[in-house]
Order: sequence, then C-alpha cells, then structure tokens
Amino acid sequence: MVMADDRAAHSTRLERMEDLVSLCARRGYIFPSSEVYGGINGFWDYGPLGAELKNNLKACWWQSVVRERDDVEGLDSSIICHPRTWEASGHVEHFSDPMVDCRACKKRFRADQLEEAGACSAREGSSEHDFTEPRRFNLMLQTRIGASEDAASLAYLRAETCQPIFTDFKRVREAARQKIPFGIAQIGKAFRNEINPRNFTFRSREFEQAELEFFCHPSEREKWFAHWLEERLRFHREIGLTAENLRTRAHAEDELAHYAKQAVDVEFRFPFGWQEIEGIHDRGDWDLSRHGEYSGKDLGVTDPETKEHFVPMVIETSVGIDRTCLALLCQAYAVEDLGGGETRTLLRLHSSLAPITAAVLPLSKKLAEPARKLHRELRRGWNVFYDDSGNIGRRYRRQDEAGTPFCITYDFDSQEDGRVTVRERDSMAQERVALDAVAGYLRERVECGA
Ligand code: GAP
Repeated sequence: MVMADDRAAHSTRLERMEDLVSLCARRGYIFPSSEVYGGINGFWDYGPLGAELKNNLKACWWQSVVRERDDVEGLDSSIICHPRTWEASGHVEHFSDPMVDCRACKKRFRADQLEEAGACSAREGSSEHDFTEPRRFNLMLQTRIGASEDAASLAYLRAETCQPIFTDFKRVREAARQKIPFGIAQIGKAFRNEINPRNFTFRSREFEQAELEFFCHPSEREKWFAHWLEERLRFHREIGLTAENLRTRAHAEDELAHYAKQAVDVEFRFPFGWQEIEGIHDRGDWDLSRHGEYSGKDLGVTDPETKEHFVPMVIETSVGIDRTCLALLCQAYAVEDLGGGETRTLLRLHSSLAPITAAVLPLSKKLAEPARKLHRELRRGWNVFYDDSGNIGRRYRRQDEAGTPFCITYDFDSQEDGRVTVRERDSMAQERVALDAVAGYLRERVECGA
C-alpha cells in the first residue's frame, strides 16, 4: 500500500497563489464579490465549499473556546455599536495607517509598504511614482443611521469584534453568574478600509474574526497569557497546520500598543512569506477602564472574599477566520505525480474541516436506490455528497480537488456482500467496509482534533 507520506514526497506544494485562487474560483470555494460587475476590491464571496469550510472552522473554534470550558461565555453582538464605543477604544483618534498618493497615476499606497508599489504607469520618461507626503488615513468604515445626514447620525462598522465584548462585560458576567477569571468570546464580521487589500483574502476590507477576551485579576495576567498562548497553538495544530508552517513572534517593545504589556503573533508560512493569522495580547485594563470612563458606569468587579474592588485585566486571543481558511487551503493544496505523466490536484484538508466529509458514488446508475439510501443515512451526521455522473476515476479526482477525505463506492458486489469500498483521499488506499459500519468508520475519523 502506498502511504500518505510517500505520496506527499511525490507532490508539489503551493508556490504560486494564482494556482490556489484559480482552484478556489473554479470549485466555488472563494471568488470576488460582485463578480458580474468586475468585483469590488477587498471583498470576497464564499461559495458552497467555502461556506462549509468556514462554518466548520468556526464550529471547531467555538467548541474549543466556548463549549468545552466552564469559564467562557459566548456573545453575538450587533455590528454597529454606539459611536462613543470607538472614541473610548481609541479607534477614532488612532486607528489609521500612513498613506501616500501618486500625483501621476493617482493610486494610493501604504507609506510603510512602498516596496510593493511597483512601477508608475502614468509618468513620461520615468517609471517612478511621484508621491505626496504621508498622511494618516483612518481605517474605520462609516455609515449613517436614520433619515438625517447630520453629525449625530454618523456610525461605524465595527473594526474589531472585541469592543462590544467590553461594553457588554457587566451584563454578560451578571447574567451568566460568572466570577473572575472568566472570558467572553464572539465570532463575527469586522470591517477595515484597508488602503491596499492584497494577497487574495489575506488583507480584506470585510472579514471575520473569532475573539476571546479573558478577564482576570492583575496578579494572574502572566499565568493566563501563557495558558491562552498554549491553548491557541494547540488549536492550530489540531486543525492540521503543521509545525513547519507555524511559528510565534513576540512583539518588540516599540511595536506594542501603548496599553499592551505583551503580544505574541501566531504566524503561518504563506507562499508570500510568514504572516500573522492570530494575535495573543495582554490588553491590561485599558478597554474596561476607558469604557467605564466614557460611559460613566463602573465596569470594575468586587472580589466576594477579599472585597477588593478592581478593574480586571484582559488577555485577548484574536484570530482571523478568513486568514486561517487561507492558511488551511495553502497548506492543503498539492499536485501529486501519479506516474505515467498523470497528476492529480488535491486539498489535504483535515477531515473535520473538509467541506464535504464523504461522497457516495454508485458505480452505475442502476445502483441508485441502495446508494441513495446510504447517502440519506450518512447525511444526517455529515455533509455527504452524491455523485453518479462520469467515470469513477473522474469522480474521485473531482472529490480530491474539493478536499473530500472519503469516497464511498457502492458497486455490484455491494448487493451481494453488504459492503462498500471506502477510498481515503491522501493515501488513495481502499478498504471494504460493511454498510452498517460506514457511519462508525466516519465517526472515528471525523472529529475536531482527531
Ligand atoms: N482585537 C484585536 C485585533 O483586532 P488585529 O491584529 O488587528 O487585532 C486580529 O486583528 C486578526 O484579525 C489578525 O491576526 C488577522 O487574522 C485578522 N485580520 C485583521 N485585519 C484583517 C484584514 N484586513 N483582512 C483579513 N483578516 C484580518
């Protein structure tokens, strides 16, 4: 039997992002938003397979951060918050990037990323841009609420999902009868008017974050920082990101936000270099203190035993869902040499995250009835696809490219022996499994962290 590791030795990993971008569009994972109008820069749509991958990743995160713990509560807050939220958080004043404009081609660039600006297309006799002096550009997207157009109607689309966690802190703590230390977690959309969206979904203007704010006593902040850093690394390993593609990077003193005591980025090795997918930050008491000050409400807590009144410290873990999906797809992509000039493209996604867990493939349309029955049974537990069109080899290839870990073939022998052939994506190994054991077979192999 050819083992998955041997196969991996005969495969090429993703080197050019274009190959993944094209697979994603072709297979309906991810494609430009508003494509019929030529797309809109920095916005992406997740098609049938992408939506499943994203949902599976979010479910794994929610399971690990919220459901498996007694000390974390979930939240689903509104995207638009009271505008004072963003004054208190410092976003109105400080959430900006330095930008420059080219007077000739009229394009706008981040002043700290000019090496990526390329040549100017509009200057005669020179390919160099004619840059203005850098200016600060606030990244928050604005909107208006209600019918009036005055200053009072101005609101922002949230730039990070965590701020409502701080403003809801007291309500959630009391409703859930939690004591410090405990955390509040939420997954949701965030919006940033990035100057240069780039690298596919890596830097988008609309994206999803999964954030946890963990509130603790000042004397315990280092302990909880270490705990959450370890937990989050474990999570990334469990969803299948390998050690060679993962590393941590501690922020230098001069990189830290003014309120932060420590920050560590979890980075992934993308084809375009090592880049952050998650940040673990010690935010101190900055957020609760500022919202306390701006709202006039006491957001501190009193220790029931010592009667000490204090503002909790916050350890934050903030992961980009889109960036993690991108990391998973980059790592999963492979083109394998099957010998004899034949290749196959596959996505080696973790079985718990793969959009389609299994495909039921009857060898002939004549076997539709029992194959459909099996499909109906299995889809109660997993996302199971049914495909009876084309030759079996081509059907396997389609599922390899979609990242489906198991193909279940119902053939003419199945009628006689009550068994089906289960083919595993990575090794291409095949085994006969009794019809009534297929669900158990999948259950054993498909679990977050399996
Ligand atoms: N609350 C802290 C916070 O928002 P951040 O480092 O700005 O920290 C956290 O963002 C994570 O959100 C990043 O590690 C990244 O995965 C994701 N993220 C941030 N900006 C993004 C963008 N423009 N496009 C896609 N993901 C982004």
